[in-house]
Amino acid sequence: MKPDTLQSYGSTIRFLHWTMAACYLFMFATAIAWNIDENLKFLINPHKAVGILLLILSVWRVGRGIRQHKNRPTNTAVTKLGHWAMYALMLAVPAAGIARQIGNGGEIHGTLAFSLLFLSLGHIGMVAYHHIKGESVLPRMLGKS
Ligand code: HEM
Ligand code: HEM
Repeated sequence: MKPDTLQSYGSTIRFLHWTMAACYLFMFATAIAWNIDENLKFLINPHKAVGILLLILSVWRVGRGIRQHKNRPTNTAVTKLGHWAMYALMLAVPAAGIARQIGNGGEIHGTLAFSLLFLSLGHIGMVAYHHIKGESVLPRMLGKS
């Protein structure tokens, strides 16, 4: 198990980052699918199950982010702000999903979810930009630096 360092993210956070990225892809794919085709509404069950798993993993990830914040690769203030905004939404989106399910003020679930989607697309864009500029941050998240 590699710990977090100032040069690279450790094994735990790398596991969480990539597992959760795959789960978010699933969440948006299911929501978009049932919005296009009513017959796919049954996808709402795995949507809820994976969403609850994401909530649990987010508590773990954000908790670790708070404890380890002095021991993570260095970033600009803007990048840090972007990462913390994603952390906040990772908690708020499934919480609002549960609220919507129990019929209690969760109307904002879709709006928050699409905000998270746009932030992550911006995030992926920035990662690609740094990569093309020849100052890639990818090795940090692949355990290679
Ligand atoms: C991070 C996790 C999640 C993401 C990214 C996500 C994303 C989405 C998106 C994009 C939509 C479509 C927007 C809309 O219809 O307004 C949606 C709808 C919905 N989600 Fe989630 N969701 C997550 C977690 C959850 C959880 C944990 C639950 C409940 C336990 C949930 C329940 C629902 C419900 C009930 C709908 C509306 C379904 C309908 O159209 O009737 N979601 N979600
Ligand atoms: C193909 C998709 C993705 C790629 C290539 C990617 C790449 C990366 C890289 C290289 C870093 C380290 C950046 C640095 O040190 O400045 C990082 C960190 C991070 N990424 Fe991603 N990412 C992807 C998807 C996502 C998604 C979907 C989310 C959230 C929904 C996300 C949220 C984060 C967060 C919050 C961090 C900060 C550290 C952490 O807690 O993991 N990423 N990502």
